[in-house]
Amino acid sequence: KMATPVYTPFVFLLLLFQSRVWGFPVRQTPQESPTCGYKSCHATKPGMLNVHLVPHTHDDVGWLKTVDQYFYGDRNDIQHAGVQYILDSVVDQLLKNPDRRFIYVETAFFYRWWKQQTDDMQNTVKQLVNEGKAREGDEATTHYSAVIDQMTMGLRFLNDTFGHCGRPRVAWHIDPFGHAREHASMFAQARVIRAHSNLNPAPSPPGILPNGYNPPEGFCWDQSCDDPPIRDDPDLEDYNVDDVVTRFLSIAHALVYKTNHIIMTMGSDFQYENANLWYKNLDKLIRYVNQNQSNGSGVNVLYSTPSCYLQELHRANLTWPLKGDDFFPYADSDHDFWTGYFTSRPALKRYERISNSYLQCSVLWLVEKAVAVAQHHDAVSGTEKQHVANDYARRLANGWAHCQVLVSNTLSSLSGSSAPRVYCEHLNVSVCPLTETSKKFSVNVYNPLARPVSWPVRLPVNGTAYSISDANGKAVDSQVVPVSQATAAVRRGRGYAVNELLFQVQAPPLGYSTYSVSLLQNGPPSPHFVTLRDFLSSLLCVCFPRYNASDGNNSESIQMSGAYIFRPNTSTPFIISKTAKTETLQNSVVQEVRQWFSPWVSQVVRLYTDSRALELEWTVGPVPIGDDLGKEVISRLDSSINSSGVFYTDSNGREVLQRRKDYRPTWNLRQSEPIAGNYYPINSRAYIKDDKDQLTVVTDRSQGGGSIQDGSLEIMLHRRLLYDDVRGVGEPLNETSDIYPEGLVVRGRLLLSLSPPATAADTHRPLAQEVVLQPLITFTDGELHPSTRLEFSGLQAVLPPAVHMLTVSQWDQDSVLLRLEHQYQASESKEPSQPVTVNLQKLFSTLDVLGVSEMNLSANQWKDEMTRLDWKAESGEKHLPKRGGDPSVWEVNLKPMEIRTFLLRVRQR
Ligand SMILES: *[C@@H]1O[C@H](CO)[C@@H](O)[C@H](O)[C@H]1NC(C)=O
Ligand SMILES: *[C@@H]1O[C@H](CO)[C@@H](O)[C@H](O)[C@H]1NC(C)=O
Ligand SMILES: *[C@@H]1O[C@H](CO)[C@@H](O)[C@H](O)[C@H]1NC(C)=O
Ligand SMILES: *[C@@H]1O[C@H](CO)[C@@H](O)[C@H](O)[C@H]1NC(C)=O
Ligand SMILES: *[C@@H]1O[C@H](CO)[C@@H](O)[C@H](O)[C@H]1NC(C)=O
Ligand SMILES: *[C@@H]1O[C@H](CO)[C@@H](O)[C@H](O)[C@H]1NC(C)=O
Ligand SMILES: *[C@@H]1O[C@H](CO)[C@@H](O)[C@H](O)[C@H]1NC(C)=O
Ligand SMILES: *[C@@H]1O[C@H](CO)[C@@H](O)[C@H](O)[C@H]1NC(C)=O
Repeated sequence: KMATPVYTPFVFLLLLFQSRVWGFPVRQTPQESPTCGYKSCHATKPGMLNVHLVPHTHDDVGWLKTVDQYFYGDRNDIQHAGVQYILDSVVDQLLKNPDRRFIYVETAFFYRWWKQQTDDMQNTVKQLVNEGKAREGDEATTHYSAVIDQMTMGLRFLNDTFGHCGRPRVAWHIDPFGHAREHASMFAQARVIRAHSNLNPAPSPPGILPNGYNPPEGFCWDQSCDDPPIRDDPDLEDYNVDDVVTRFLSIAHALVYKTNHIIMTMGSDFQYENANLWYKNLDKLIRYVNQNQSNGSGVNVLYSTPSCYLQELHRANLTWPLKGDDFFPYADSDHDFWTGYFTSRPALKRYERISNSYLQCSVLWLVEKAVAVAQHHDAVSGTEKQHVANDYARRLANGWAHCQVLVSNTLSSLSGSSAPRVYCEHLNVSVCPLTETSKKFSVNVYNPLARPVSWPVRLPVNGTAYSISDANGKAVDSQVVPVSQATAAVRRGRGYAVNELLFQVQAPPLGYSTYSVSLLQNGPPSPHFVTLRDFLSSLLCVCFPRYNASDGNNSESIQMSGAYIFRPNTSTPFIISKTAKTETLQNSVVQEVRQWFSPWVSQVVRLYTDSRALELEWTVGPVPIGDDLGKEVISRLDSSINSSGVFYTDSNGREVLQRRKDYRPTWNLRQSEPIAGNYYPINSRAYIKDDKDQLTVVTDRSQGGGSIQDGSLEIMLHRRLLYDDVRGVGEPLNETSDIYPEGLVVRGRLLLSLSPPATAADTHRPLAQEVVLQPLITFTDGELHPSTRLEFSGLQAVLPPAVHMLTVSQWDQDSVLLRLEHQYQASESKEPSQPVTVNLQKLFSTLDVLGVSEMNLSANQWKDEMTRLDWKAESGEKHLPKRGGDPSVWEVNLKPMEIRTFLLRVRQR
């Protein structure tokens, strides 16, 4: 019996490119000069069916247990898993036989293990490692900037530790819950063929192995398995070599692939803790199966790795299909769509997103590490156990606490003011002790974007009128409005402010601006209530329906909704309330409609005077469960747009993919779940459009959503479920917290824009970016010293609108890692979709750029040293568009959607 029968979600995908990403250590004979990569592959036999055995383990970086519990093998009562022993044992076994191979990808674990080894052991492992390793991430709910940061960190560790032999060349992503196109794109350097190996014959979708990432049935020799070992002494009883070879040959012959090479994954979750069991039997399997070649079996078995397998596919010199769509939504059965995890644990998803944004303010490694761990597919996806989710949140909080010190120091040094800096992390629920009590304080707005931003600020205050001045001493318009009932309810006694102070701030690119606030008078609030016609009603209806979750009591399938799976019990959502209790207000800064749909669902519809987008601030929870039904709450926007069954979602926050109801671009779909089967991941935006209008929704975290009716767009906001969905986590998704013990309350925002399709990207691209990399607001109490520098920009000039500075981080003493991104697709917009040129020497205001070298996307290889296998695509099109060349060393050209990575040698001005 396999140890992991319930948890084998997988699609196997090999990305066809040579130069980058996840790989594995391969054994090599010590003392020899290192032979890296393909040179270390075992020879194959051209006339035979070559079976590539790939020994591997799949070690979740936190799922049922926390990262550290997994590492040490603690709490084996929850799940038997001890990663430190796996690495100890595998290294020991690799040393015993140079033919053996192993792939290991979870860098977070490997890093922990490496630190604990002696110099001797580290040197031994360096001999063994030939291609490095990297960890996997969730593909559906992750934002590309976090994915790139994470890749960079992991691969830098590998390069620093193992040199160029530690550079992985293939992607090994065995356990995400679907595959994103943007991931393939990022792995392939953001501008390469997005092909994948056609591992399986039609009609099944390509790239799927018959038994997940597990070994074939009957061939699991881990200590957690019960399959018979190979008993090869004919003098003893139970001799079974003939039986094993016969079974193996029949399994191998049953697999039909495009080439005479097949891959078998020999391992599974947390296996190889006692690697001797596996290797002893694999050695024998290879020996006995290959002996049969003399009898004309025609099968050759070898130890291999994904890159050796890939090399053989390349040698076959065939043409391969190009895939332009992605692998969402994933389903493992007719009624079992993995579309719930797009939304599961919405508070953690938001926290992860904000942490990633803060990370851009800092290069502090501790924060980077916490965010990278939270990118694991069971973390961002929300499909881990509750205690593991708490552990992730704690790690992010620790990282952020350290980051705050760094941000404070940086701001003190730039502004010349050492006044203590205060952070208010609960402004989302109008809690900030400093602004509630202080009569005079200053607000520092740091903008991590390379263009100026204008941003509405909303601070809890107890006064009724304030005077505000900007960095130039100019008065800023502000308004005071009463705190809403919904906000007073969610903050749960954590603050007492009766009002909120609203004003618009402007911050320069990659810099800050400081606003001074003083209390003018105390008196009764003057909220300017007006009876405003609901300015939405003419445009669209914003409703809050919910789905009753399936409890498995159903004639078609017993599958219930859970952390992974979304399965409503009917296709008609239940409208929580047809009417809302409404309060409206309007002043010079904002117009607001506050709506209460029920005691646990409320919304504020806001339009700031300076804004291009309508804001929907939703507050949902505690989701009632008194009726013993799980519930999944959505926000539905109905419009008159004639969307004809089509809508669009982003892929990891970057490119946009078209989605069509009950349809998949590359295979024939028989739709079995009318709602869940039409849900897709939304990382940052989704839209519907017709000839005249485009309605775009920008989200503040990853969520799931769909367009079930024409003209309608629905986004799932929160879910609370009472049953486990039997994918291994063993808990219902029934979140509570210290503040909300009776059920988690979550608040978030959707930003809506309505514009003609031709110019829509000009609004939603920058909008989405401002939500992901939102300004960081900090406070200091009292009057600022007159010598304080109130405004600062790290840039010499604003960059063109198409250019996003994706990364600026200190690399070492005198160099800075810079990523420039063209953030528009080719024909998405007019002017911004054109190629642009940026001068690297004219970028920074405080740094002289002395030298530049271009690197690959993950910054572990120099661009001019990159080599990549060349693949022939079926469509015959040339897949590498040629760049027009840079005007000079300093002036670099960016094509639509291109990301370029540079290491700059710099000197402080
Ligand atoms: C070896 O190969 C021959 C011919 O293919 C086959 O008949 C025989 O059963 C094989 N031996 C074993 C042990 O499977
Ligand atoms: C090959 O076939 C012969 C005769 O059938 C048999 O005696 C021998 O054991 C076989 N060899 C293997 C390796 O199966
Ligand atoms: C690959 O196939 C093409 C024809 O499709 C042929 O011209 C070429 O020589 C082949 N290359 C190799 C290395 O066999
Ligand atoms: C805040 O303002 C309210 C209403 O004006 C007042 O009742 C309360 O005492 C104030 N609280 C503090 C701590 O100033
Ligand atoms: C969902 O459950 C509620 C009870 O909470 C019930 O009133 C409603 O009819 C149900 N709706 C559907 C569509 O099953
Ligand atoms: C869900 O959580 C609530 C609050 O902690 C608890 O009372 C209830 O028993 C839980 N239900 C399930 C099915 O776990
Ligand atoms: C408010 O923000 C904090 C910090 O990011 C987060 O932990 C909390 O869940 C948010 N509150 C709500 C109600 O969403
Ligand atoms: C990789 O590491 C080596 C040795 O530490 C260093 O010299 C080299 O510059 C690194 N390569 C890259 C691309 O960072």
